[in-house]
Amino acid sequence: MKKVFVKSYGCQMNVYDAERMTDLLATEGYSETKAMEEADLVILNTCHIREKAADKVYSELGRVRELKEEREAQGRETKIVVAGCVAQAEGKEILRRQTAVDVVVGPQNYHHLPDLLKRSKAERLVDTEFPIEDKFDHLPALQKSRIQSRGVTAFLTIQEGCDKFCTFCVVPYTRGAEVSRPVARILDEAMRLADAGVRELTLIGQNVNAYHGEGPDGSSWTLGRLLRRLAEVPGIARLRYMTSHPRDMDDELILAHGDLPALMPYLHLPVQSGSDRILDAMNRKHTSDEYRRLIERIRKRQPDLALSSDFIVGFPGETDAEFEETMRLVADVGFAMSFTFKYSPRPGTPAAELATQVSEEVKSMRLARLQNLLETQRQAFNHGTVGQTLDVLLEKPGRHPGQIAGKSPYLQPVQFESDAHQIGEIVTVRIVRAGSNSLFAELIGTGDKVAA
Ligand code: SAH
Ligand code: SF4
Ligand code: F3S
Repeated sequence: MKKVFVKSYGCQMNVYDAERMTDLLATEGYSETKAMEEADLVILNTCHIREKAADKVYSELGRVRELKEEREAQGRETKIVVAGCVAQAEGKEILRRQTAVDVVVGPQNYHHLPDLLKRSKAERLVDTEFPIEDKFDHLPALQKSRIQSRGVTAFLTIQEGCDKFCTFCVVPYTRGAEVSRPVARILDEAMRLADAGVRELTLIGQNVNAYHGEGPDGSSWTLGRLLRRLAEVPGIARLRYMTSHPRDMDDELILAHGDLPALMPYLHLPVQSGSDRILDAMNRKHTSDEYRRLIERIRKRQPDLALSSDFIVGFPGETDAEFEETMRLVADVGFAMSFTFKYSPRPGTPAAELATQVSEEVKSMRLARLQNLLETQRQAFNHGTVGQTLDVLLEKPGRHPGQIAGKSPYLQPVQFESDAHQIGEIVTVRIVRAGSNSLFAELIGTGDKVAA
């Protein structure tokens, strides 16, 4: 049997795509391996979001090339495929920079992989034209054994692409225009996942709350409506969604928070900056006060909501005072978790052309201060759950024998002692201690049994 090794960089969408690629290649006789040196096919599923992410691909390709040469000396062939967002953004430039690469395939074209691999015997190929057909129509249906090997939580792509064109961001160019999958296809996938033991679904999309898929009745469904329907799927106990844009938090979605017990009290809602002038220059199309008011409204519905966000420091032209506005917003709102980035100029994006680039030194100083504040908030949030009674979805064995590990509703890793419980169960625990990265708990009851 031939073996495929896939390495993914970047966001959850790439994780999902990597699973779909290996599912597709399984129908072509490839089994998945976690050891690159034994792979007949190496796929790098790449990310273009920041310069560092994109650069990593070329250093990794250098390593893969050596491997290909070593295997060749032993008479074994290795195909190298570059997929994902760098593939889309750089196309044949990748073939030019790294001659060991056989195929470059974009995120909307990977259903062509079997054909590309066959044709690559004769020539090196690039497939990055956005296709007319929908790749999901050409991917194999999820198989029970393959789902089970991936655990009790799963990502499900419901929307892809972005029409927002934030001035710093490559995603609209690498993933293409916003497309929502039809409700029936999503439900079918959700039921297959649930049937194989999945208990928690994270609906994913570059702009997941802009979802507007076709419903069974022909009308357009919002994310709020879709969540209500998915909450009825037997076996699914938890729902999450990411990544959302503040402008697309409509009333139906806000109502779902608090109304739907399955919808977890955790929301990743990137704000990027606390300065109205910077938000405008980023083309985010909302003010910092609008964000504050939005959070207030959602918290009214779901008071224990844990909030997470992305922040960019050192966007072109950002002054000290404007950075302080970001610090103030963080202090006012309070985040349980966050991701912080130094602005990275990306080829082809409007912000990269601005003459007012901020120095690395200033970016580093701002990043350190912001991270400090957010880390204090994260620790405070975790310590705040000590003494609380929380449900935990058991996902895997714990670090030590006799321990089992799972996640709280707020996405915090939780460990406790147990040999009587199974992966996939949801149990009620009391949090007794907060470590730096996970919570420690004692068992007080079983919330529910795994659906038969
Ligand atoms: N669609 C999502 C996020 C996509 S990218 C949204 O609208 O929020 C994930 C995060 O990467 C972004 O939220 C942003 O904080 C960061 N990011 C994107 N482009 C960047 C760039 N050029 N430099 C630094 N960070 C960037
Ligand atoms: Fe990028 Fe903005 Fe689209 Fe998010 S909303 S993917 S940051 S362009
Ligand atoms: Fe990266 Fe593409 Fe995701 S650029 S963050 S892999 S959409």
